[in-house]
Parts: sequence; structure tokens; C-alpha cells
Amino acid sequence: MAGVEVKVEGLSKSFGRANIWSDVSLTLPPGEVSVLLGPSGTGKSVFLKTLIGLLKPERGSIVIHDTDLVRCSESRLYELRKLFGVLFQDGALFGSMNLYDNIAFPLREHTSKSESEIRDIVDEKMALVGLTGDEMKLPGEISGGMRKRAGLARALVLEPEIILFDEPDSGLDPVRTAYINQLIVDLNAQTDATFLIVTHDINTAQTVPDNIGMLYRKRLAMFGPREVLLTSEEPAVAQFLNGRTQGPIGMAEEKDAAQAAREMEEAGQLEGLPALKPQLQPSPGVGERMAVGRRRDRVLQMLHTLPPAAQQAIRDSYAEDPLPYEPPTGPIQKPGLPPKRSAGMAYAAPEVTDLQGYDPGYDATQSLRPSPASRPRWRRR
Ligand SMILES: Nc1ncnc2c1ncn2[C@@H]1O[C@H](COP(=O)(O)OP(=O)(O)OP(=O)(O)O)[C@@H](O)[C@H]1O
Ligand SMILES: [Mg+2]
Repeated sequence: MAGVEVKVEGLSKSFGRANIWSDVSLTLPPGEVSVLLGPSGTGKSVFLKTLIGLLKPERGSIVIHDTDLVRCSESRLYELRKLFGVLFQDGALFGSMNLYDNIAFPLREHTSKSESEIRDIVDEKMALVGLTGDEMKLPGEISGGMRKRAGLARALVLEPEIILFDEPDSGLDPVRTAYINQLIVDLNAQTDATFLIVTHDINTAQTVPDNIGMLYRKRLAMFGPREVLLTSEEPAVAQFLNGRTQGPIGMAEEKDAAQAAREMEEAGQLEGLPALKPQLQPSPGVGERMAVGRRRDRVLQMLHTLPPAAQQAIRDSYAEDPLPYEPPTGPIQKPGLPPKRSAGMAYAAPEVTDLQGYDPGYDATQSLRPSPASRPRWRRR
């Protein structure tokens, strides 16, 4: 199973008259790991469910293997769904089935494999997530972390090309979060599948993905190489990454104020932007992630379009094998946040990928090294 590109364009989703998000466009690069951030209730889970065709968007397209999931036939959608492995937010295990039967379920449902073939696959996936010996346990008898890992094993049995994780780290202590994050990176190296992870965990966002996006005010505020968001001084982004309660992200637009407050508190009270941490590497013996080389080429192509702080952070991350300096061409990107809506005003979302006419405040043709003043706060110390 090798990774496949997922191209989302102009996607909008409402429930009745309640718009959840509009005009979401992003491409999940094949085999890379992407993270989706956003305050509670901004529709991250709805986005994952839309990607796998469980929810129908009103507008837009989701193209995988040249097929638009939004418009294809039911039978084609059924086929395409098999490309996905999903770890749902609550694990979604059947409470009355032991772990073995839970994990075997998709194989019994979707394949004509014999019970002995199924046993081999289930044993392998249970070993992979560290659950060997727990086959007979019921979901109600195990810890939250074990339930997540069982959900992950079940998501893997059909050898998916795309794996969606809805908060794989929620409710876990830091040690178990570190364990599951390492497991995700190792899995990516082993499978080269395309990963999308929804998380609130700042450490996960900082250390696991190649790319990060953020849903905010019913739009995808940005999506791009991890360094763009992690060096952004855009107030809402910096607030979110620092978990501060002071900032443009208000409780009113969130589903559950108490929960959001807890998340903010858990995230800590840091000053300025957190330092960029190195990306997690696969465990010894697991092998290289195949996406690393592809990602390097891809990022080099777009480097000149990124804000200076992101460019510098990307160059720093490739310090051992420095990126060549390419003469910049084309428009500069700005990681834009949507403006506040005001009543009666036409609302134009900023194009994240192509901001013609945007004044970046620096001359991208002159120097690729940012001036000290344009460097993010954490670098100026
Ligand atoms: N099937 C549905 N019918 C109607 N409204 C729904 C449905 N599913 C979700 N919603 C609404 O969509 C909004 C976004 O929900 P969603 O669960 O995607 O948020 P989220 O970003 O995943 O939040 P959290 O971080 O708390 O998990 C919420 O207001 C929710 O009530
Ligand atoms: Mg959710």
C-alpha cells in the first residue's frame, strides 16, 4: 500500500441552515503526514467524515485516483472507502465484541478471507500496536489508550492507502501520547500511506506532521508545510499553538466553552511562539519514511512563495543536506486568516495558495534570509 494524493477543492458543508465550513481546498501529498488543527466545534470531525463519504458536502470535490468522491456512484464510493482506514475520535469499537473480533470485523465484512488468514492479519496488527495477549478483552475492560490502539489496529487491517486519525492522543497521558505518536511515524514509514491527523495536542502538531492546516471561523485558514504555521505570528494561530486564553479565538464560536477552556489550560501558558522542535524520526530498524525525499522536492518548489520565517525554518530543518537557493518566481503566499464577518458585507476568503497583490513586507527577490525584525519571536532571543 503506497500513499495516494487526496485533492480537496472548494468543499462546503452545512447541516440545515448551519454552515460548518466553506470553500475548503487542500491537497494531502501522497505518503506525507498532515495535521488538522482548530478550536473545538470547528468541524474537524465533520471534515474527516466528509472525506470518507459518510457526510455529503453541498459544494466542492474530493478527488482520489481520478475519481470525485462527491459525485461518483454508490458502488464506486463503496470501493473507494476501502482505501481509507479511520481511527474515530471515540475508537468506535463494538462494546459487546472482544478486541480480536472488533479488529477482525472489517476483514469479515469486506473480504472473503478464511478465518486462518484473518487470524494472521489480526495477530500482526495487534502486535504492531502492542496489544498481543489482549485478544479476549472487551473494550469496556481496557484503558483509553488501549482502546485507541485497538481502533488503530482495526483501521489497519484492510491495508489502507489513506489513514485518518481523529484525535489519536486525546485523553492520553504524555507518555502514552508519545507512544502513539511514535507509532504513527513508524506506521507511516512502514506503509507510505497518506495520513491526516486531527489533534489538539501541540506537541503532536509540532513533532509529527510534514504539513499543518487550521480550521478557523468556518474556513481553512491555512494549509502548508509545518514550518509555515509553526512560525506564524498570525494572532489566532499563535494563540492556538500557545494555548493562551487571550486572543482572537473566543469561546463563543466553540461548541463547549468548558472543554475549550480545559484544552487551552492543558496546552500551557507560554510566551511567544514555541521553539520549533525537530520532527520525530522512525524508530531504529523501521526504515526511512519514503515521503521524506518527495516532500523535500515539493517544499523546494514552493519555498520562495512562503513567508521568510517559514523559509528559514525549512532551511534550518534541512541543515545537514542544505536546500539549494532557487531564484524566486511567481506570487508570494500569505498564510491568511479569514477576516471577521460583518453583517451584510460580501465575504471574500483570502486565497491561501495564491495571494496576488499581497505585500509581504519584504522583497522576496532580494534576500532569502529574513531580517532580524521579521524573524519570529522565539528566534530573536
Ligand atoms: N450529523 C450532524 N448533524 C448536525 N450537526 C452536526 C452533525 N455532526 C456534527 N455537527 C455539528 O457540526 C459542528 C462541528 O462538529 P465537529 O464534531 O466536526 O467538531 P470538531 O472540530 O471535531 O470538535 P472537537 O474538537 O470538539 O472534536 C458542531 O457544531 C456539531 O454540533
Ligand atoms: Mg472532533
